[in-house]
Amino acid sequence: MEKKVVNNYGSFDVVFTHGEGSLLWDKNGKKYIDFLAGIAVNCLGHNNPALVKAIQEQAAKEIHISNYYLSDIGLKYIDDLLQATGYERAYFGNSGAEANEAAIKLCRKYGWLSENGSKNLESAKKNGKTAKRHVIYTLEKSFHGRTLATLKATGQDNFHPSYFAPYPEGFKTIRAGDFETIKTAFEDTTAALFIECVQGEGGVNLVDKKWAQAAADEARKAGALVVCDEVQTGMGRTGTLLASDALGIKPDVVTLAKAIAGGLPMGACLFRGKAKDVFVAGDHQSTFAGNPLVCAAADAVIKELTKPGFLDRVSEAGDRICSTVASWNCPLISDIRGKGLMLGFEIISSVKAFDIEVECLKRGLCCCTAGVNTVRFLPPLVITNEEIDEGLKIFKSVLFDMVS
Ligand SMILES: Cc1ncc(COP(=O)(O)O)c(C=O)c1O
Repeated sequence: MEKKVVNNYGSFDVVFTHGEGSLLWDKNGKKYIDFLAGIAVNCLGHNNPALVKAIQEQAAKEIHISNYYLSDIGLKYIDDLLQATGYERAYFGNSGAEANEAAIKLCRKYGWLSENGSKNLESAKKNGKTAKRHVIYTLEKSFHGRTLATLKATGQDNFHPSYFAPYPEGFKTIRAGDFETIKTAFEDTTAALFIECVQGEGGVNLVDKKWAQAAADEARKAGALVVCDEVQTGMGRTGTLLASDALGIKPDVVTLAKAIAGGLPMGACLFRGKAKDVFVAGDHQSTFAGNPLVCAAADAVIKELTKPGFLDRVSEAGDRICSTVASWNCPLISDIRGKGLMLGFEIISSVKAFDIEVECLKRGLCCCTAGVNTVRFLPPLVITNEEIDEGLKIFKSVLFDMVS
């Protein structure tokens, strides 16, 4: 097939036409089980009636109006989102990278304000003086996005090729789980600590709860903000609405995207406490951000996620997958990691996780890889036991054919 799209994704030669629940069909009518959900995006699966209805009805009313004005659905969604998450303010953007960019800017401004006070803001804008408190700490193996700042924030050197240099300054990394470093790392130059609660792109690595709490305490003692990047973990993916709820650190800022609007492009930052009034008009903006159509979709999503039992089912489905895979005692799998429906299966080094992904796709299962050698499952949160079992049957056949 002649490719006219820039090959920046290295896409597979599969053309999908439609989906239903956790199933997808390609243009030849072949069925696939979706253990990818558009990389943790389609939380309600495909063709979800509540989501489709919300989008159709909103499209007929107004799709976009500009942030010069407010929309009734936007105001309703903000209320519903803040009530469900317990935060005080929300900012909307269009993607995960943008949500993190906004959070980085907010932390830098917070650092400036904490030294200089808001009364000097006008002169600060003019004289270009950088804040002493500006350093953003992120975790080794983290992933925060593809813009220049979020790439630099990403704690994996392979994401920093020299051909994109120069990168923005003021980013440092620490190792999650290292209790010694956090005793001294944060100083009066530290603006924020970013924690990716379960590192998705880095290999589905869970951040230890005790360490996260100690790190957040140390960062706050040094006067810094705590930010959780929940672009992948947020909106129920790990079995709680926010993964940081389970870590018990109540960050000052949470960034969200992916599942937030069930498949429409949207990102968000949630702010509370010291972070809630840092941004003022003009500090950060985007043309499309939070338009009525995405807010209507996001409102339908949050309604579904907060229904009684919805999140319990996410944990139950994740347990079913993990216990089934563990019961195979497959010699190719050296570790099973994850939480809820964000799962990683580490593959022994002599086999490539990518080869497993390719073979799964050939046999009708969509999944992906993470980190060096991990197969990652991120199915829709509404996946049924039948769909899970059907998908796992394919995964098992691929693995055991590779053993022999
Ligand atoms: C934790 C995390 N942060 C940020 C991003 C970037 O999100 P986006 O691709 O929507 O810009 C991702 C994407 O995979 C992510 O997993």
